Amino acid sequence: MSNPENRVVLECLSLTKEFSEGPEKLEVLRGIDLLVSPSERVAIVGTSGSGKTTLLQLLAGLDYPSQGEVILCGHQLMNVSEQQQGELRNRHLGFVYQFHHLLPEFTALENVAMPLLLRKEVSVRQARIRAEKMLGMVGLSKRARHKPAELSGGERQRVAIARALVAKPDLVLMDEPTGNLDPHTASKIHELMKSLSKKLTTSFIVVTHDMAFARQMDRALRLEDGNLVPVP
Ligand SMILES: Nc1ncnc2c1ncn2[C@@H]1O[C@H](COP(=O)(O)OP(=O)(O)O)[C@@H](O)[C@H]1O
Ligand SMILES: [Mg+2]
Repeated sequence: MSNPENRVVLECLSLTKEFSEGPEKLEVLRGIDLLVSPSERVAIVGTSGSGKTTLLQLLAGLDYPSQGEVILCGHQLMNVSEQQQGELRNRHLGFVYQFHHLLPEFTALENVAMPLLLRKEVSVRQARIRAEKMLGMVGLSKRARHKPAELSGGERQRVAIARALVAKPDLVLMDEPTGNLDPHTASKIHELMKSLSKKLTTSFIVVTHDMAFARQMDRALRLEDGNLVPVP
């Protein structure tokens, strides 16, 4: 990881989030504490509406908590400018969502190369080479020149995973990455995620409904009544 002196990738302390709906207050998160170590794989399960997406949004600095703080690779995420937040996200985080969010007019290869090009740290040629290698790691070398519309749902999620990992982020946040796939394709993507996580130093937080998969992570937590509790 990019800050080897720091032993914690993500630290979140007493995080609360409430939404006000007119006079009503909806307390979604009620004091979340979470430490994620380098290379650690954490699964989060919980019923629909329990606040999983809300939590990931806060961890990425894409929304503000009502109280509490988030420290990403030693950097406070809350009390900095939006530009600094964007830079921290680019440098340290990758994302995979239930829907792939690939850019339709670009090929798989171009989509995967995009985070590297946005960082402006490598040449276009270098970005292409790294994106090709990453597509190979997700088993899609032969589909590199196809656009998202020409790929299956499982292939699109593979491209999305390659894009999330290509810049070697410290942490990848995944929000139901297989939620939109049939069970067979989902289990193949789970196998891919497990094998990638063993090869890479990236930490993972994966929101999933698949208990069997969750139990194969280093830790499984359930979001329940606004708190994270270990899954026995
Ligand atoms: N921007 C918002 N305004 C008001 N309520 C919201 C907002 N975002 C989420 N919620 C509510 O917060 C709760 C948790 O939502 P969410 O985090 O999407 O749950 P999950 O991802 O676990 O299904 C839900 O009751 C949802 O309706
Ligand atoms: Mg959700």
